[in-house]
Amino acid sequence: KINSWNETTWVSPSNIALIKYWGKHGEQLPNNPSLSLTLKNSVTKTQLRYRKLEKPVSDSEDLKVAYWFDGKRNEAFERKVIIYLGRLHTEMPYLQNYELEFRSANTFPHSTGIASSASSMSAIALCLVDMEQQLGLRKPPTQDVFRRASFLARLGSGSACRSVYGGWVTWGEDGLLPESSDRYASPLEQTVPEQWQNLRDAILIVNSDRKKVSSSAGHGLMSNHPFAEGRYRQARKHLNCMMLALQNSDEKTFIEVVENEALTLHSLLMTSSEDGLLLQPDSINIINAVRAFREKTGLMVCFTLDAGPNVHLLYLEEDKETVQQFIQEELLSFCENNQWIDDQVGEGPYKV
Ligand code: PMV
Repeated sequence: KINSWNETTWVSPSNIALIKYWGKHGEQLPNNPSLSLTLKNSVTKTQLRYRKLEKPVSDSEDLKVAYWFDGKRNEAFERKVIIYLGRLHTEMPYLQNYELEFRSANTFPHSTGIASSASSMSAIALCLVDMEQQLGLRKPPTQDVFRRASFLARLGSGSACRSVYGGWVTWGEDGLLPESSDRYASPLEQTVPEQWQNLRDAILIVNSDRKKVSSSAGHGLMSNHPFAEGRYRQARKHLNCMMLALQNSDEKTFIEVVENEALTLHSLLMTSSEDGLLLQPDSINIINAVRAFREKTGLMVCFTLDAGPNVHLLYLEEDKETVQQFIQEELLSFCENNQWIDDQVGEGPYKV
């Protein structure tokens, strides 16, 4: 008899770090705590279909996995997923008994250069946790399902562990929150005043080429970086300042910390390798225009950056109209094909 297929489908968002994770050790453990916003519109939807094999495979390299992206088999990503699932062997030894088919698609517009590792890895991890629930292979209490998904997502891509929760999320032992851990992320939602809960993020696409430095190479370069220890100390200090700024609605400190974190990440990148100079003239043009607009209007707008040339512009819901007009009039000319993504803080992943 042929075993029948079961399935589970999850939609999981991307996230943008305000306090950056850059530098790791051991099994994808962060060298400093980070803080991020989970987005709403930039998501990956992944379906996992699985069925029991007649005969289990004997090695994790031989796992039976197919990964489809946008309706096409994607062998490059499939190899990554097989390596990832191999790494989960002690956690999920029973994966060797199953045939797994993933079908995945992103909502981000094509060729924007927006990294999808956080959304795709968190979606895979959520599907896997749901699969083990459906099969009764592990029965954690309900609140632990997300913690386990976060733990598993981390082993795929560090920042992915933060996408498992909505809103504001921390990852890494920080000495502030009792539940903080290097092994999984924790949501901050109750402690963030309303004003900050609905932040908006305009992602300005300066260049859609794939970045030259992979994030794993980038993290690796931190281990010999002369500023590494100072950086890890600074990140902890920034996290402290940021938590206070959020509590006290201290916009000035918020802006200072967010922009300093973005520029620190790029300073480290640029001084790590020739390929680390990722900012482009139009990234700088946007930064200057944002600072001038803030000076002129007094509005709470600031920028952050990922490991690439695109600029994330953060602003408050109440200023949406004014800021979006500014984007249209003054920033789109710096964007490739006038492209930008209108995003905001979201509620986190959900099952469909
Ligand atoms: O999760 P990774 O290994 O792709 O690293 C992501 C690092 C940054 O995006 C640059 C910062 C962060 O905290 O997300």
